[in-house]
Amino acid sequence: MKTLPDLIENNRQWAAGITAENPQFFETLAKGQSPKYLWIGCADSRVPANQITGLQPGELFVHRNIANQVVHSDLNMLSVLQYAVDALKVEHVIVCGHYNCGGVRASISPAKNGLVDNWLRHIEDIAEVHWDNLQALDEDARVDRLCELNVVQQAKNLSRTTVIEDAWDRGQSVEIHSWIYGLKDGHLNTVAEPISGPK
Ligand code: CO
Repeated sequence: MKTLPDLIENNRQWAAGITAENPQFFETLAKGQSPKYLWIGCADSRVPANQITGLQPGELFVHRNIANQVVHSDLNMLSVLQYAVDALKVEHVIVCGHYNCGGVRASISPAKNGLVDNWLRHIEDIAEVHWDNLQALDEDARVDRLCELNVVQQAKNLSRTTVIEDAWDRGQSVEIHSWIYGLKDGHLNTVAEPISGPK
């Protein structure tokens, strides 16, 4: 296992490597950011947004929570979204789920997990709507399908936030993307067409 001093040592090596390649990298980036993408993903440690997309510091604005949710009244998510859209003018918002998401699995499991179950109720709501299709699947397939349905629903929720509605109203181009990541192969795939305007 890596110790905390290892992490600091890793950091120095990482910074030195970047500076060796591009001596101005940190100096330039310290002046400001202009990412084109906002990522809304799961907090799962196996889905590191920048690494799996090959993006450098400064290229991806990130919000992560358990099971990559866009909850209408979540001020944390909405504040990130507003800053990303209104100030940074990101052109794409990517909602990215992942297969075998522990949060999604827990949302339809009878086990009690305390506080987090309240957060996961939003996903249980999605499962209820699609239960006729989900119940025919075995447990793992059901979780994976619900991971996909969750991404689609969260993208739809995004399209109904005032932030996105207002951006579209003033003619600002923002596309919402529904992606899913495979823990088993490291691949990103789309699960629905991008949303680029009001329905
Ligand atoms: Co997850």
